[in-house]
Amino acid sequence: MTATLLRHCADDSATSQLGAELGRALRARGLPPLLIVLHGELGAGKTTLVRATLRELGVRGRIKSPSYALVEPYNLEKLDLELKRSVQITAYHIDLYRFSSSEEWLDAGLGDVLDGKSLCFVEWPERAPGLPTADLDIRITPRGEAREVSLHSGSPAGEALIDCWASAGAGAG
Ligand SMILES: Nc1ncnc2c1ncn2[C@@H]1O[C@H](COP(=O)(O)OP(=O)(O)OP(=O)(O)O)[C@@H](O)[C@H]1O
Ligand SMILES: [Mg+2]
Repeated sequence: MTATLLRHCADDSATSQLGAELGRALRARGLPPLLIVLHGELGAGKTTLVRATLRELGVRGRIKSPSYALVEPYNLEKLDLELKRSVQITAYHIDLYRFSSSEEWLDAGLGDVLDGKSLCFVEWPERAPGLPTADLDIRITPRGEAREVSLHSGSPAGEALIDCWASAGAGAG
């Protein structure tokens, strides 16, 4: 089973709004470790969306595009329901535009980042063929200033996230 969410974002603030909704859905699910990939041409709005998600998850200060550094790490606080206290989880915002093979990805040590304990947002995942299957696959297609955004689950965790999001009345489909 897969779950899908489709949204039309008329301008960049609508795309940011969608990113914030993703942040709220992630928090409602207890901020699980997930691999979230974002497809879309240069300037589609991948960074715009992730920036709004990170902001919603409590990141303060400047949120840079990872185009140059490749990886930007963020420490997030989440409530551990079993321990009944807040714990830290690392979010990684990654841009693979400059990669061309799975060897490069592994040589750069980025395999360690996908340790199953982190929340990873990956732009240009198609540049790293060896990447594990994503829990959530986001596709952004420009239509003039507007963007068609589709979100597909690739795992039970991704499906639960979209179901939680849809049942919060945040989206259709
Ligand atoms: N509806 C929209 N949604 C998102 N961004 C939009 C929209 N309309 C215009 N924009 C503009 O498009 C640009 C998107 O840039 P952004 O860095 O988010 O793209 P990107 O997909 O991450 O590109 P890259 O592949 O180069 O990393 C921004 O300048 C933003 O203001
Ligand atoms: Mg980007």
